[in-house]
Amino acid sequence: RLLIIDFGSQVTQLIARRLRELNVYCEIHPYNLVDDAFLREFAPKAVIFSGGPDSVTRQGSPRPPAGVFSMGVPILGICYGQQVMMEELGGKVMGGKITGGGGTAEFGRAFVEPSGDLNLLEGWFENGKEQVWMSHGDHVSRIAPGFEVYGTSPNAPYAITADPARHFYAVQFHPEVHHTPNGARLYENFVRLAGFSGDWTMSAYREEAVAAIRAQVGDAKVICGLSGGVDSSVAAALIHEAVGDQLTCVFVDHGLLRKNEAEEVVGMFRDNMNLHVIHADEAELFLGELDGQSDPETKRKIIGRLFIDVFQKYANEIEGAAFLAQGTLYPDVIESVSFSGGPSVTIKSHHNVGGLPEKMGLKLVEPLRELFKDEVRALGRELGLPSHFIGRHPFPGPGLAIRCPGEITREKLDILREADAVYIDQIRKHGLYDEIWQAFCAILPVRTVGVMGDGRTYDFACALRAVTSVDGMTADYYPFSHEFLGETATRIINEVPGINRVTYDITSKPPGTIEWE
Ligand code: XMP
Repeated sequence: RLLIIDFGSQVTQLIARRLRELNVYCEIHPYNLVDDAFLREFAPKAVIFSGGPDSVTRQGSPRPPAGVFSMGVPILGICYGQQVMMEELGGKVMGGKITGGGGTAEFGRAFVEPSGDLNLLEGWFENGKEQVWMSHGDHVSRIAPGFEVYGTSPNAPYAITADPARHFYAVQFHPEVHHTPNGARLYENFVRLAGFSGDWTMSAYREEAVAAIRAQVGDAKVICGLSGGVDSSVAAALIHEAVGDQLTCVFVDHGLLRKNEAEEVVGMFRDNMNLHVIHADEAELFLGELDGQSDPETKRKIIGRLFIDVFQKYANEIEGAAFLAQGTLYPDVIESVSFSGGPSVTIKSHHNVGGLPEKMGLKLVEPLRELFKDEVRALGRELGLPSHFIGRHPFPGPGLAIRCPGEITREKLDILREADAVYIDQIRKHGLYDEIWQAFCAILPVRTVGVMGDGRTYDFACALRAVTSVDGMTADYYPFSHEFLGETATRIINEVPGINRVTYDITSKPPGTIEWE
């Protein structure tokens, strides 16, 4: 496996992505947790130094452990990683602009030209130069003994340097980003010369993860909050494979789920996969406390508080539980690395049930910590979860409460569930489900007049929402055809008593949000 030592670059995760795409298993570890003992234990076959925001010219700036250079494994330094490698091996780094040419701060697109043959650069410079993405304030002003220059750009005379005998490579630019179009080739060459065969697959990951969970958990009991979402489902399935009946899942049913959702999720895990699942049917509690509340933030707070209370109540009944499983993903893990206080690094990790592990004295099992979302899906398929389940659109924790603007009533929830089911059925029937990032129906807090048959109706209006997005941070509405919208409106009004008007929400995010509350 390959070790990425993280010096705090914003794009370190992309390095991991590029390597995974090459079927090479890698892990990112922050530099301050990597010492010589760690290196011996990890035994990497190759190491990459990431970029980072600090300056190696600053006293106390981040360094790799000295032992990394004597392990006899290939090392690739990127940006800050290049500079720290030079400095540690006897070169020199300078900050800011220097006169007389030869280097300056550089941000954005640049072109590198070759100045020597290097195995790392196979397939590069076929057109004489390569576009790269630079983002650096400092620059190398003298390369370390043993190194030669293999590529230069107008502002980076040491854009590519290497000591081929020791397999040390250092580049000033970021090959992992999109704006270095041929960057993947550098990683491919690097892992090949490091001896990786590119045979890491999800089934290998599954085996390793199962062994790691067994080693961590031993014969202790594990509890897992099952939401029905992809992450917690895959985590539960994986842990179940590792420790079987030592795992108990708690499915908190707040009465704000979609039609048949509780039955489907509990049924799948309990009946098909033989997992212990507690179905915590607490609809009365949640809907009781939400009664009369219409402010979106108040609703969220009530639901969040009750969710934790309920989870804790059921979890406390599981005797001897020592671990809490969470479907934390890789992008959640290294959210931000703070360098403001010198070499100390703060890594924030998201807790799906924030604060609970400490409160309950539980240790965390997070078997998806190394995976990206699409890899979690692949692992889910590998574990035999049905594909329609794995590809499901995201569903918010507060559920239908935030799709029912204004006061929540059981009547409105029932109508909403039916309308949503018809809408999603339409989307699936037209083969659009996988093209859409998230789709749902919201019931509006207004009744409107209609005419059906010979009679007057006075029923609720609903809004259909469907968006395309990459990460939910920004989104655009999905351009359904008029035929689709017309057919869907007709079906909802005919099949769902209580709704006599259907609208389609064409707001993008921003300025709107995806949910209505
Ligand atoms: P917004 O409405 O903020 O939604 O554009 C972005 C994504 O987040 C989901 N969402 C939530 N998920 N708890 C959650 O677990 C929440 O309170 C919440 N609010 C929004 C939303 O469904 C969309 O995928």
